[in-house]
Amino acid sequence: MHEDLLRFREDYPILASSVYLVNNSLGAVHRRTAERLQQFYGEWAAEGVVAWEHWVPEMQRIADLVGRIIGAPPGTTLIRQDVASIMGAVASCVDWSGPRNRVVYSDLEWPSSHYLWQEHRRLGADVVVVPSAGDGVHLDVERLVDAIDERTALVPISLVLFRSSTLVDVRPVVARAHEVGAWVLLDAYQAAGVVPVDVVRLDADFCVGGSVKYLCGGPGAAWVYVRPDLAETLRPTQVGWFGHERPFDFAFEPLRPAPGVLRFSGGTHNVPSAYAASAGYEGVLAAGVDRIRERSQALTQPLLEGALERGFVVRSPRDAAQRGGHVTIDPGRSREVHDELLRRRFVVDHRPGSGIRVGPHFFNTADEVAALLEETSVIRAGLGSGSG
Ligand SMILES: Cc1ncc(COP(=O)(O)O)c(C=O)c1O
Repeated sequence: MHEDLLRFREDYPILASSVYLVNNSLGAVHRRTAERLQQFYGEWAAEGVVAWEHWVPEMQRIADLVGRIIGAPPGTTLIRQDVASIMGAVASCVDWSGPRNRVVYSDLEWPSSHYLWQEHRRLGADVVVVPSAGDGVHLDVERLVDAIDERTALVPISLVLFRSSTLVDVRPVVARAHEVGAWVLLDAYQAAGVVPVDVVRLDADFCVGGSVKYLCGGPGAAWVYVRPDLAETLRPTQVGWFGHERPFDFAFEPLRPAPGVLRFSGGTHNVPSAYAASAGYEGVLAAGVDRIRERSQALTQPLLEGALERGFVVRSPRDAAQRGGHVTIDPGRSREVHDELLRRRFVVDHRPGSGIRVGPHFFNTADEVAALLEETSVIRAGLGSGSG
């Protein structure tokens, strides 16, 4: 299915030297990234400080490319360094000393999110961590919904879980949160670029993610969408001068927040990272996320079934419709198998307690996925019996 997408292979140089199946972790770099970085350098070299005059609007244009990928209207997304600092800025909109001081999330969230909320206990946050189904794969959505009440300020939730690739049905969570006046902070990092995301249809209050994974944009270009009506009224305390209405006035005065999502800016923009990331975004947009999704499912379903046939443990949902872009397989002695795969230029990653994550993208072939399985079997057999 969608073999025509393979015409894009030549845009991703690493495919010539590796079986590159780790797009769930670090997406393959697009060859135009080099041109974009060269352009950045050229502008800096030729114009010096004057380059800011187009770097600032260019940041917004690039943020809008992400917006197209996640269904956000133009002008409602912003690029910042990393998800952690964006989540911190969102958290800083909440009055943790007031009666609505609860944050509710599952124990399958990205650990850095957990660290952030745990630290907010010191500011008065009432942190409720809802246990998942116990298999490390499925989130207990009903239990999560039940834990959300009128004391809840925020519900951080991943659309695709980073370990198992489970695609979470967040709709009941959003509905319950909004029923009681809480905000939903959607983490779409593992979804963006491989699973269609529509922040407006999902009615997310905030949506965060980054560019390192299926967007193939590299580090330093995380992004946030803030619901437009909220963005006009919220007042983060974690602010920077780019969040001022007129940053280049350098006015020593109480902050006049920039309009909309721009008030969530921190300090100086990370321009080169955004330039680099834009090449990855354009690659994803050229292929189209709906088609990428179909292609991804056509590659991952045989992978999952092949893993089961070989007797490997699979720690991802069996049904492709309930999965994101990767499949987590545990052939036993996963760490050692992973290390040997890497030595043989089969690039995947490993998460302790879960197994080997295999994340093909639209430019991968069915043969590459089949070869990965075969190589995994050979390596595993060579290690002999025993787990670990
Ligand atoms: C779901 C999810 N959220 C957030 C992150 C990381 O965000 P950052 O390093 O930009 O803070 C990751 C992965 O690296 C992730 O998988």
